Amino acid sequence: MSAALSLSSVGKIYQAKSGPVQALDGIDFSIGEGEFLSILGPSGCGKSTLLSLASGLEFPTSGNVALSGKPITHAVTDIGIVFQTDVLLEWRRVLDNVMIQPQIRGLDMKLYEQKARDLLALVGLTGFEDKYPHELSGGMRQRVSICRALIHDPPLLLMDEPFGALDALTREQMVMELHLLWLRTRKSVMFVTHDIQEAILLAQRVLVMTPRPGRIAEIVEVDLPFPRKPETMETRRFVELVAHVRHLFERHGVLKKY
Ligand SMILES: Nc1ncnc2c1ncn2[C@@H]1O[C@H](COP(=O)(O)OP(=O)(O)O)[C@@H](O)[C@H]1O
Ligand SMILES: [Mg+2]
Repeated sequence: MSAALSLSSVGKIYQAKSGPVQALDGIDFSIGEGEFLSILGPSGCGKSTLLSLASGLEFPTSGNVALSGKPITHAVTDIGIVFQTDVLLEWRRVLDNVMIQPQIRGLDMKLYEQKARDLLALVGLTGFEDKYPHELSGGMRQRVSICRALIHDPPLLLMDEPFGALDALTREQMVMELHLLWLRTRKSVMFVTHDIQEAILLAQRVLVMTPRPGRIAEIVEVDLPFPRKPETMETRRFVELVAHVRHLFERHGVLKKY
């Protein structure tokens, strides 16, 4: 079976007004079918660029990007994306926000409405289907975004710092909700973050990036048992993995050694 996403020898140079900007260099990795991969790196290292390449919004300057074995040649529609801001439409109710994609695509609305309700139930939003976005908390809004990204059952879910705008407590809760959702659906996920603990807690592997131009410092195997829980962060192995990633960042000058 081919990987959900694969990048080989990928480089990306943007032509900015001030001159060329090398965002990525020599990127090689793949996300297996059903795998949860975290991409971890400092601001400006090319994380969002990786997402743009995976969704066909940008193309590599060198190397290849493929989805389920097929090279990406144009913007990909068969994909789910969740951004840091939830971009919900304020004038549409929760259910109608989740239903945007099926509506635009002219799909069977009855069938998809049931799917939308099932997804909302899966993230604990039963009873909120008819609320407007402004009636929800930040965490609830981001859950609606996740449902919207999953409604057309895309083979790959891309998440770009999805919990970055939430307060720390809501964020911790959302991490656990996402973990449970992934355990139930086993989607292939590329999860972008600059939070070391979040990256490790959620993933099977963590791809650690260097500062610009973004290269792969190391791909760290996360050999922690499932299901992960908040207490997992207190285990010896978790603490070791965090320390290992910190050392990688110190070596690359991302974190200062004290
Ligand atoms: N459209 C663009 N034009 C020029 N430079 C860009 C563009 N998009 C991103 N960059 C530059 O590429 C580098 C990587 O950006 P980005 O992928 O957004 O990083 P991250 O998401 O890790 O913060 C940054 O230096 C950024 O300024
Ligand atoms: Mg970014």
